[in-house]
Amino acid sequence: MMPPGYPIASLNDSTYDGVHERRRLLGGLGQLTDGLIGQDDFLVTRQYHVWPGYDYVGWRNRDPGSGYVEMEFVFDRQRNFTSMKVHSNNMFSRGVKIFSSVTCHFKPRLIAGWEAEPVEFRTVLDDRNPSARYVTVPLERRTAKALRCRFAFADAWMMFSEITFLSADTTGPTHMPPLVTSLWNGEDSSASSTTHTTETSPSGKEQAEDGNTAVLIGCLVTIILLLVVIIFLILWCQYVCKVLEKAPRRILEEEVTVRLSSSSDTIILQTPPVPPRAPQVDPPYERVFLLDPQYQDPAALRNKLPELSQSAETSGCGGGYAEPDVTQCTPHQCFQSAVPHYAETDIVSLQGVTGSNMYAVPALTVDSLTRKDISVAEFPRQRLLFREKLGEGQFGEVHLCEAEGLPEFLGEGAPLPDRDGRPVLVAVKQLRADATSNARNDFLKEIKIMSRLNDPNIIQLLCVCVTSDPLCMVTEYMENGDLNMFLSQREIESTLTHANNIPSVSLSDLLHMAVQISSGMRYLASLNFVHRDLATRNCLLDRRLTIKISDFGMSRNLYSSDYYRIQGRAVLPIRWMAWESILLGKFTTASDVWAFGVTLWEIFTLCKEQAYSLLSDEQVIENTGEFFRNQGRQIFLSAPPLCPPSLFELMMRCWGRNITDRPTFEGLYQALRPHAHP
Ligand code: ADE
Repeated sequence: MMPPGYPIASLNDSTYDGVHERRRLLGGLGQLTDGLIGQDDFLVTRQYHVWPGYDYVGWRNRDPGSGYVEMEFVFDRQRNFTSMKVHSNNMFSRGVKIFSSVTCHFKPRLIAGWEAEPVEFRTVLDDRNPSARYVTVPLERRTAKALRCRFAFADAWMMFSEITFLSADTTGPTHMPPLVTSLWNGEDSSASSTTHTTETSPSGKEQAEDGNTAVLIGCLVTIILLLVVIIFLILWCQYVCKVLEKAPRRILEEEVTVRLSSSSDTIILQTPPVPPRAPQVDPPYERVFLLDPQYQDPAALRNKLPELSQSAETSGCGGGYAEPDVTQCTPHQCFQSAVPHYAETDIVSLQGVTGSNMYAVPALTVDSLTRKDISVAEFPRQRLLFREKLGEGQFGEVHLCEAEGLPEFLGEGAPLPDRDGRPVLVAVKQLRADATSNARNDFLKEIKIMSRLNDPNIIQLLCVCVTSDPLCMVTEYMENGDLNMFLSQREIESTLTHANNIPSVSLSDLLHMAVQISSGMRYLASLNFVHRDLATRNCLLDRRLTIKISDFGMSRNLYSSDYYRIQGRAVLPIRWMAWESILLGKFTTASDVWAFGVTLWEIFTLCKEQAYSLLSDEQVIENTGEFFRNQGRQIFLSAPPLCPPSLFELMMRCWGRNITDRPTFEGLYQALRPHAHP
């Protein structure tokens, strides 16, 4: 019977600081070792603020006749035990009595088994005196490090408040607290380990219990370690997957070498952490945009991307593109293969001298670049009369000059505008006197290439001054400056612009511009020339609004925010660049088509906004990764309000992920022409 009015929980060892495992308490100190003995009446407690029965730990006999409670005591070291003192309640009127007998087993060492011979002790039960008392159990000087004592019920309840041991090797009583916890390795420490068993259990199981505990703890530790390892592996896998998936968003830490533009432009790009870039401030551009380490090898990426996998040998376009054979292939086919990755081949950039791109063409060997190679006429420089500076680049300047006697010098059929008796004005690009020999070479190459170009929508080289320094190239002068400036200073034509004399352009003007640019690019593509920096800033307008594609590199200063600067030298127009140009350094006619799409977008926004103006340069590069992945997360430029839907569809095709899906310049020209005025 349970004492009336008191829940059984009150008799639990609630101060026990070990673990509760199933029906057992393991590895702690408890009420039985706190040095406080209980009152005779367990309903009364000497401790204020605690519940009645606090002093005692009690067990109910679930098995009348043969029930017992078993406890195991583990000590800090081996001892010779003389006796055990158990302070027990004896309120027989409430069904509580001291134990009727106790059987103690001994274990000399933790790893040893229990000794076969126990100490048994029978108590004299007392039905007259309900006082709590110490019951002393003689332990016969048995040597042990651990004891297991089974206390047999004498009544319905057994309630102990303290258990103390006396050993012969100490002067005073050896209390339970100095006990061990490290059961599995036998290490001693100063903590107690007790087992309170309220259930009877088969004796075979009891024998095995001690060994099992060590095994159990060992297993638990192993399982925990395994779980930690598994969790670590899962987290690691997730991290690696994320890194691979987001690789283009992150700048690879490896050092990579990229040869930019020409064989002499080998730049080691290291990738330190990149600080956020303030708007309009050149970033420390020490990076290359690669998808993952394997993409640092362009050949590996070509294998991965089917549309890039054609090789020059297999495409039938021929490997020697220094003299492109346009009869053998379509522009796209040829450029996929015939104009290889710039890291693999020497592609001459015509931008070298003044800092911008002109046409990327196959390298001409430096030996072949002598002044004798230049077929364009040498003009006497004293006849170039300086008027004003038009622009400036890293390696030179562009001047507006009056060219005395140029029409006569060039002869009939020269591409010069009507003079109406006025002096002939020309643009003179001049190499800085202190330019490096590389810059000089590039300048000469640029002249050689430009001298071969002859199209109404490509800026015309008229003559040169190369027999003495500074080297100069003379081109036609475009009175209306560049298209970006021109459009940004205009509004779309309306009654309002007419009424207020606001400079304006019509939609048909815009379409006409688009047609002209596509025509110029069609011409370049037909020669297998890759521009690499098509944008409104590189399109010039003459008096009659004829557009000529140019790139004197002066725009690099004027439009520096359009370029992403690689520390020291290269600058990249990333907002106009196709994903494969940014990620792989692959410039082709198809990447020119991409830039043409952005140029169209500029035209129809009247150059009032920069492409992806809401994105930082870093975000533009991240977006490039999305274009590559093509999972619908890429951000496209949105349709300009002025732009007819069919035209926007054309732009979108220019930004196709696969280069074979992009239109050709011929196709673009044919699509645009019908919409423009003659
Ligand atoms: N700026 C650079 N080149 C030019 C040209 N040919 N005409 C006018 N302005 C220019």
